[in-house]
Amino acid sequence: MSAMTDSPRHFLDLSSFSEETLSRLLDRAAELKATRAPRDDLRGKTLALVFEKPSTRTRVSFELAMKELGGFTIVLSGKEMQLGHGESLGDTARVLGRYVHAVMIRTFDHAQVQEFARGAPMPVINGLTNFSHPCQVMADLLTVKERLGALKGRRVVWMGDGDNNVLTSWIQAGKIFGFTLTVCCPKELAPKPAALAGPVTVTHEPGAGLEGAEAVLTDTWISMHNADADRRRALLEPYRVDEARMKQAGANAMFMHCLPAHRGEEVTGAVMDGPQSAVWDEAENRLHAQKAILLWCFGKL
Ligand code: CP
Repeated sequence: MSAMTDSPRHFLDLSSFSEETLSRLLDRAAELKATRAPRDDLRGKTLALVFEKPSTRTRVSFELAMKELGGFTIVLSGKEMQLGHGESLGDTARVLGRYVHAVMIRTFDHAQVQEFARGAPMPVINGLTNFSHPCQVMADLLTVKERLGALKGRRVVWMGDGDNNVLTSWIQAGKIFGFTLTVCCPKELAPKPAALAGPVTVTHEPGAGLEGAEAVLTDTWISMHNADADRRRALLEPYRVDEARMKQAGANAMFMHCLPAHRGEEVTGAVMDGPQSAVWDEAENRLHAQKAILLWCFGKL
């Protein structure tokens, strides 16, 4: 396979996109969800999925999305590749570019994805780094649109760990779509300055800003790259999303979590499995959002 000559369409961070482009992706995702049937948009195309961390939703949704669009996937573990034995990201990207038509990579440092993309002659998709998780938040935005309509002006509250990759992508989305985002987190776990790329209110008072919230978001307290689990649990205890917090937000507020969840830590079982929970829709919407992202990367949208 010869290298592509046009600049590849990478999907690395929401902050690189306009409202118009992301809206187009979300609209296509909704259409693909409404008419879910095998298609051949990506016939003959192969996506490599490179995982340096575990995954359920990202792996299954990308594999299935590619197959339902008529293409193929190859799943690779970073540990089993020469990447794990010192081959550079840039060299790996150039080699994969001779075999496959796009790569989704899940790794640790954000700089690794950026370095991989710089070397890649084909589109590269960020399947999660320690910094951001744009594919997840596309599915989340689709879920909000389905339940509430337009994104502009929505009132969203994040409770828990403020130094979180899903939150970074939510902050970026908030700037693009113009919704109000309050981050309620311990001061020791506040968003890093690099993540504060959009208008956001940060408060350390547990539950502050919940009144009138339309979506209450959280994520696991112990991410795959966190080593200080006991310290984090102690700091985050007052920020758990429980029934009292959802009552504070109001009966119409939806509860959102990218999963996997830990009932009894960041969220109670009653909220997670209760009537305000949107978590299963979010998980399903990974599939439809991933399809739209793939079509955009391949220049079909
Ligand atoms: N939310 C999410 O990215 O799930 P996985 O880690 O299972 O892919």
